[in-house]
Amino acid sequence: MQTNILTIDAVSLSLAKGIILNGGAVAFPTETVYGLGANAFDEGAVKNIFAIKGRPADNPLIVHVHKDYDISSLVSFVPDYAKKLAAKFLPGPLTLVYKSCGKVAKSVSCGLDTLAIRIPSHSGAQDFLKYVDIPVAAPSANISKHVSPVSAEHVYADLNGKIQLVLDGGKCTGGIESTVLDCTGEVPAVLRSGLITREMIEECVGVCNEYKLRKGEVARSPGMKYKHYSPNCKTMLFAFDKADKAVEEYKRQTSNGVKTFILCDGATAKLVGVENILNLGDSENEIASNLYAKLREGEDKAQLIIAISPQKQDGVMVGVINRLEKACKQ
Ligand code: TXA
Ligand code: MG
Repeated sequence: MQTNILTIDAVSLSLAKGIILNGGAVAFPTETVYGLGANAFDEGAVKNIFAIKGRPADNPLIVHVHKDYDISSLVSFVPDYAKKLAAKFLPGPLTLVYKSCGKVAKSVSCGLDTLAIRIPSHSGAQDFLKYVDIPVAAPSANISKHVSPVSAEHVYADLNGKIQLVLDGGKCTGGIESTVLDCTGEVPAVLRSGLITREMIEECVGVCNEYKLRKGEVARSPGMKYKHYSPNCKTMLFAFDKADKAVEEYKRQTSNGVKTFILCDGATAKLVGVENILNLGDSENEIASNLYAKLREGEDKAQLIIAISPQKQDGVMVGVINRLEKACKQ
């Protein structure tokens, strides 16, 4: 199958709609990462998404809708705090998990009685979702476990020959996936950290829990248990206060002839002062925005990436550190 990358216009949108309504898959940009979309009402199309990615069958998908879509046809209950959060943060990088009313294909939620819904703010995503005007189930458009794609070229590198169309909306500015928030309980609980932080959610609705997977417990967000976001080269992760050890390791590996790069934020890059640096930048949002692009750049250049966690550990950095830990999981 030939894979075409097309900019988003009336022609490519109409092509995309045809593919989606015929049970196919289309990659599209969002403000976080690129998604691989299929008709959420079509069981075969959704199963095909799992097959294309090699995604574990128990890791549910997020349904994407445009901003005027009436989600009351998809979910059975929307708590007041979720309405407040939606009013403040949507469209945007926040996915809300509700009790499902079972209208979408079963494999979307892998048999769970909940449904994750996202309204992306990217104008290309909105155009695409408006044009098809049905809920689109979409995981990130990478091969399972690989680094999520933040450009059409990244999608192409992973899925060339496996899908017909990549809608090209340029580089994603957000850079890490949406915050996933469980809205089925009395109070919201963060299942996956992202750009809408727990602090921002608390400020809006007063209280927000953070869900931590305990040993032996069934994951509420099954994606949490997998190795993820990993570059195709060796990786190591050091905490910020072990930066000196990271430099020692860099020197040792380099002198053994291993092409090694240190991945860290701008301030840490100055501190460690080594030659081969993958610099994530300075502000929180810059670091998140550059993370996946730098991991992909790293796998192209390096045999080993040594990552150093940022010094700051709250806000957006919770999501960044979580991705780094999963990317470097052995
Ligand atoms: O920013 C994003 O969310 C991107 C773009 C494409 O929208 N999508 C994305 O999808 O990251 P994916 O499939 O890579 O991650 C979906 C996450 C997984 O951790 C999954 O376990 C969780 O959402 N999830 C999906 N449905 C769920 C549900 N019903 N209950 C709990 N967690 C759910
Ligand atoms: Mg993913």
